[in-house]
Amino acid sequence: MNEMLRIACVSRRFGGIQAVRDCNISVQSGSITGLIGPNGSGKTTLFNLITGVYSPDEGEILFEGKTITNLPPSRICHGGLSRTFQITRLFWEMTALENMIVPIRQVGFRSLLGPDMFRNEIDRAMGLLERVGLTHLKDEPARKLSFGQQKLLEFAAILMADPKMVMLDEPAGGVNPTMIRFIMDLIRDLNKEGVTFLVVEHNMGVVMELCDHVIVLDQGTKLAEGSPEMIQTNPAVLDAYLGT
Ligand SMILES: Nc1ncnc2c1ncn2[C@@H]1O[C@H](COP(=O)(O)OP(=O)(O)O)[C@@H](O)[C@H]1O
Ligand SMILES: [Mg+2]
Repeated sequence: MNEMLRIACVSRRFGGIQAVRDCNISVQSGSITGLIGPNGSGKTTLFNLITGVYSPDEGEILFEGKTITNLPPSRICHGGLSRTFQITRLFWEMTALENMIVPIRQVGFRSLLGPDMFRNEIDRAMGLLERVGLTHLKDEPARKLSFGQQKLLEFAAILMADPKMVMLDEPAGGVNPTMIRFIMDLIRDLNKEGVTFLVVEHNMGVVMELCDHVIVLDQGTKLAEGSPEMIQTNPAVLDAYLGT
């Protein structure tokens, strides 16, 4: 397997807090890689650094062997790397269907939209809404969807960009077991179709069942990595969790 994403010696500080410290992480192409760690260990900051929301103080981030350090988020998304947010970001007054179309425009894809292109975009959005089981809600404003449906909508919306790699920040957080199962199946199916995943998740059952490789962060740096089985029995990992 090839390396899709590399985080090399990356650090980022916020005032007196060293949120990410000399972090080295590699995500293999075609994998479902889990990123776990206690609250405040730097997982979301790392996502923000990878997707260009923040710039690292030090270090470099490479996507498919090319540096994306300091690129703006739109360029990174355009390059094939998309993410969801721990707190779902949608346009609450817009319909589910509009939420599928608007982000891709903002990112600057297909800026020269003719009527045919627009038709294609809607068809594609409808296909993805069907895939996540939200077709019947396409004309509802996003705020009317359940929490789990909002997460699915955000997930579907980032797929509009046809990403090579998707980063999910707590996809199972606050979601009922049936919906968790649905989201896991969706991730697995997309993975079989060639999408690489980096998943932050607190639900260990989900991480252990879904991921083929797990990276553990503690205090902003990598504490351990390995197969789910190895991670579950690693004393340093157990310490980091029990110690907090
Ligand atoms: N924008 C920010 N400003 C100040 N501190 C931040 C900011 N973002 C994250 N932090 C701090 O960085 C540390 C890591 O946070 P975060 O990356 O959200 O952890 P996790 O997602 O693993 O829970 C925490 O101490 C958090 O308070
Ligand atoms: Mg977080």
